[in-house]
Formats: sequence, structure tokens, C-alpha cells
Amino acid sequence: MRKYLVVSTSGDPDSRSRKMGRAAYGVLTEKKAPCEWLDLCELDLPLCDAAQCYEHPATQKVNAAIQNADGIIVAAPVYNYDVSASAKNMIELTGSAWEDKIVGFLCAAGGMSSYMSVMAYANSLMLDFRCVIIPRFVYATGSAFADGELKDPKVVERIGHVSAELVRFTEALRG
Ligand SMILES: Cc1cc2nc3c(=O)[nH]c(=O)nc-3n(C[C@H](O)[C@H](O)[C@H](O)COP(=O)(O)O)c2cc1C
Repeated sequence: MRKYLVVSTSGDPDSRSRKMGRAAYGVLTEKKAPCEWLDLCELDLPLCDAAQCYEHPATQKVNAAIQNADGIIVAAPVYNYDVSASAKNMIELTGSAWEDKIVGFLCAAGGMSSYMSVMAYANSLMLDFRCVIIPRFVYATGSAFADGELKDPKVVERIGHVSAELVRFTEALRG
């Protein structure tokens, strides 16, 4: 059976993308897909310096989690019309661990005008590491949340679709 990872990249204790990631993790575990949860904010990850950062225990933990997974969902905040620097730093730290992974995205943003923001990140995973990107991602703004919880049924449904597509693609492509 293929292995899955949901990684939350936001540093905000009240992160919305983390809540989206938890929902995807719930869907995957309900499907009995072997799935790990990784929250970067619980780790003391260094910034990539292309040198000592690779020896850091937190880097090695993230690297191992990525290596170990066949399909990965990245839950990320949109910052400055891109995903957050923390999400990019994760790739800089772990590089070739991403090779040939199947990857889906859940993005939390402040408004609808940053809808395509994940594309540069997706392109770098495709072109640098030959990742296969699920051609369906979830993009949610604050209106999908109420009382600190993810409430919008359409967003919940889309998270279910992305999670199911992750399993379908991963089983098909990695046998
Ligand atoms: C530094 C910074 C930059 C941001 N830039 C954007 C942006 O370009 N487009 C957007 O829609 N929202 C932007 N936002 C809003 C965040 O995407 C929003 O707060 C989202 O919920 C963050 O994800 P998180 O809750 O998982 O941390 C920005 C927020 C911060 C703090």
C-alpha cells in the first residue's frame, strides 16, 4: 500500500491552511490510507543556507517524512502572491527527497485575487523533481471559516476530492 503525508507549512497558531490540512488528513485516514501528519511549526527548521542546514535534526526529520511518502498534500498560506517562504524553505531544505512524488495543494488566502499563486511552486516541483501535480487544488479565503473552524461545505467537499485524487493518482502512477 502506498504511503501519504499531509504537511502543514504555516507558522500561524490559528492557521486556516492547517485546518484544511487536518481535514485532508481526516479524509485519508478514513479511507484507511497510511498517512502521516507533519506540522512545520512544531519543528525548529533552519533557513536553507545550502550548507549546515542539511545536518539539522529538524531538516532530517522533514526529509525522512517526504522520502517515506508516495503522495503528499501541502497545506500552505498564500503570502505576497506566492506560497509562504516557509513552504518554499521546506523544498530548499529537502530538494531531491521530492523526486517523483505525487503532490496536491490546499491554500489559504486573504482574497480571491491570488488564486493562481501556487503555480510557481507547483512548477518548481514539476520541473526540478518530476513531481506529478494533482490538477485540482483547494483555495479558501476567510469566508470558508466561522468560529475558528472550516465551515464551507464546498471547501470541505473539494478537500475530499483532492484527497481522493491524491490516492487515485498515487496508486495508478506508483503501482
Ligand atoms: C505576509 C502576508 C502576506 C500575505 N499576502 C497575501 C496575498 O498575496 N494574497 C492573499 O490573498 N492573501 C495574502 N495574505 C493573507 C493570508 O493568505 C491569509 O491570512 C491566510 O489565512 C494565511 O494562511 P494561514 O492562515 O494558513 O497562515 C497575506 C498574509 C500575510 C501575513
